[in-house]
Amino acid sequence: MIKGKPFVKWAGGKRQIIDKLKKYVPEEFNTYYEPFIGGGALLFELSPKKAVINDYNKELMNVYECIKDSKKFDLMCRELNHHETEHSEEYYYEIRNLDRDKKKFNKLADYKRAARTIYLNKACFNGLYRVNSKNEFNVPFGKKTKVNTYEGQNLGIICGYLNYNDIKILSVDFEEALKDAKKGDFIYFDPPYDSDTSTFNSYTEDGFGKEEQKRLAKVFKELSDKGCYVMLSNHNTTIKKTF
Ligand SMILES: C[S@@+](CC[C@H](N)C(=O)[O-])C[C@H]1O[C@@H](n2cnc3c(N)ncnc32)[C@H](O)[C@@H]1O
Repeated sequence: MIKGKPFVKWAGGKRQIIDKLKKYVPEEFNTYYEPFIGGGALLFELSPKKAVINDYNKELMNVYECIKDSKKFDLMCRELNHHETEHSEEYYYEIRNLDRDKKKFNKLADYKRAARTIYLNKACFNGLYRVNSKNEFNVPFGKKTKVNTYEGQNLGIICGYLNYNDIKILSVDFEEALKDAKKGDFIYFDPPYDSDTSTFNSYTEDGFGKEEQKRLAKVFKELSDKGCYVMLSNHNTTIKKTF
């Protein structure tokens, strides 16, 4: 089976350490859950037949939705061709600034928003995703003269994977995404990292602070007690056990 790989560069992406992670994956499990999916490095590597994937980032999850829907997928690819052809610094800022007018932006077709997300990820500085307090994407131009939004067959492979398997796509808080997890399911948690200092951890307008880290630890323990297989990546910080 040809496996897909992340279609976006994502802060905290796990492709570089995928072999290390795989050592901890149970040999057999029922449903695979990834509540902080980001670029989905482990999902694509494992390519499970049944999965629930989730991320708070609505623009990102809209891309997964559009890749899964064959009609939207075709339209999104046409839009990507257009972005590749028109690519320049001026064009980048034109597309980036579409979210400055929320009324207009909210009326944009899903596939157009999805193509914008992929294009901005490829054309921005360092593939960062960062929004300001008004939820406006504010990463500067990456100075590339050419962008490759498809990466060969990758989008098509992912489209096949999402369509021929039972993959549920959500965009809610991680705890909500896990409410149906049962004994025998496998959950991989890759949250925004905890930090003692203020390193980059604001992926969404809401951020993910100490309280969320504690809530995450609680959910992790509850699922483990229930008989789920659980695996989590995080920084080794000095958080105190208060639950
Ligand atoms: C470290 S990244 C995941 C990286 C991913 N494993 C990969 O390989 O690309 C953490 C993700 O958590 C998401 N996130 C932040 N707060 C969340 C929440 N409360 N519920 C669900 N997802 C959240 C962010 O949008 C971000 O995409």
